[in-house]
Amino acid sequence: MSKKVLAVYFTQTGQMESIISHFTLPLESSPDISVEKLRIYPIHSFPFPWTSPAFFDAMPESVNSTPVELQAFTFKESHYDLIIIGYQPWFLSPSIPASSLLQHPSFKEISKNTPVITISGCRNMWINAQEKVKKMLKNANANLIGNIALVDRHNNYASLVTILYWMLTGRKDRKWGIFPKPGVSDEDIAGSALFGETVKDHLQKNEWNSLQENLLRQGAVNIKYNLMFIERKAGRIFLIWSKLINGSKKRRTLLVAFKYYLLIALCVAAPVILLVDALFFKPFLGRRIKQQKEYYAGVSLKQ
Ligand SMILES: Cc1cc2nc3c(=O)[nH]c(=O)nc-3n(C[C@H](O)[C@H](O)[C@H](O)COP(=O)(O)O)c2cc1C
Repeated sequence: MSKKVLAVYFTQTGQMESIISHFTLPLESSPDISVEKLRIYPIHSFPFPWTSPAFFDAMPESVNSTPVELQAFTFKESHYDLIIIGYQPWFLSPSIPASSLLQHPSFKEISKNTPVITISGCRNMWINAQEKVKKMLKNANANLIGNIALVDRHNNYASLVTILYWMLTGRKDRKWGIFPKPGVSDEDIAGSALFGETVKDHLQKNEWNSLQENLLRQGAVNIKYNLMFIERKAGRIFLIWSKLINGSKKRRTLLVAFKYYLLIALCVAAPVILLVDALFFKPFLGRRIKQQKEYYAGVSLKQ
């Protein structure tokens, strides 16, 4: 009997659409698998290119996973053998359209008791967002069986400059001809077909237990200690800022303060904190760090 796959995703620049196209190629080329692709759109679209105020204005609702209304969508089937969700982190949380999908009653209904694979495309910080996605999927009684995280592999500071350039101008070229091209590299986007091949094998055998292990062997997730360290701290701080800003009459002023806070935190405070950590803490925490990395590379959810 033919297997039915749903690949549902949001994208602004088209990056996630491209990832989904390559990832699902091996599945589509198999005669016994049908793939339905569904791109979702919020009713009030987010600007692209972004203005700086609009970009930071998305922070509180991203962090709080406040859903927005989506344009009506329908699924062709009443049940799928596999659901693939393509999303991107915004402010260390699933993007507002993606979290709106994950909380949508129709999505919760269709994903109930169904194997789900998540695939994200971002700058380089996706761990917090994936933890939130894990929780939302658990709320929907969906069964997360695989995760792939595609990132911009360039230096953290170079990619900070290039993502802002890309988001604020809409141009995905090399800033001043010096900086690297923003986003997930074309090679990595095309390379996601390799993960699709692995998923196809597991789908055909209907065996999911070893999927994430096999995806990890192919490099589907790569956790860098420094980024994990910054992200874990930043996730908690973003939550405080979002609570402060939410519903405040001084929203605009606070968002400007957040913008400068973020730039200083990333460019000045983070290197100092990382140095202190490298000298006094990291050398003694080898086992704990290994466990943390293993946990974030996996698909289980801490209670
Ligand atoms: C408002 C906003 C916030 C973002 N925050 C993050 C982030 O926290 N971590 C990260 O790695 N990338 C972040 N990005 C980059 C996105 O995850 C994504 O790579 C980019 O928006 C392109 O995705 P798309 O074209 O598929 O929508 C952010 C982008 C936007 C627009």
